[in-house]
Amino acid sequence: DLPYSDYIRSRIRTVPDWPLPGVQFRDITPLLQDKKTFRVLVDIFVHRYMDQQLDLVAGVDARGFILGAVIAYELNLGFVPVRKKGKLPFTTIAEEYELEYGSATVELHADACQPGQRVLLIDDLVATGGTMIAAAKLLQRIGAEVVEAAAIVDLPELGGSKLVREQGIKLFTVCD
Ligand code: PRP
Ligand code: HPA
Repeated sequence: DLPYSDYIRSRIRTVPDWPLPGVQFRDITPLLQDKKTFRVLVDIFVHRYMDQQLDLVAGVDARGFILGAVIAYELNLGFVPVRKKGKLPFTTIAEEYELEYGSATVELHADACQPGQRVLLIDDLVATGGTMIAAAKLLQRIGAEVVEAAAIVDLPELGGSKLVREQGIKLFTVCD
């Protein structure tokens, strides 16, 4: 009977010093592995978005695929992948963004959605916000309306969720 955010948080494991010393890595695999927490988690998103007249769900490579595809299926919507560079075979558009050290690129098929379509953007976690902002920009560049970006976890001390919102992107997270 915990508030749902405490219940979800209770199944997220923090792994110290992974992948680098000093990083406290939030590992969502226990949450996905447990049938009850996985269902509670998916249902939080499904109930939030079921009456939003969405057209598509976009998920971010790789952990955004797990959640995004299930949410799309439950909402009776199609799914589009935002992928790491070099994975999509057809005509792509790309956005580069800064990581703590260096940069990364995400790509989207140019025909992934039609102008004006209402898209929900899903990832597992917002850290610096770079990934979510780049993914939202890709969708906006091909004319999508990013109705909301959503993730399981926000790491507010890294400032990413603030940056996402400063870009005018609505953001929903289940817990921090
Ligand atoms: C992680 C996470 C988000 C992103 C968040 O993915 O799943 O996509 O980083 O970080 P940011 O807010 O600082 O951009 P990662 O790049 O580790 O890829 P993976 O899903 O393939 O493990
Ligand atoms: N967990 C999962 N993915 C991440 C994290 C984290 O703590 N930080 C950046 N990406």
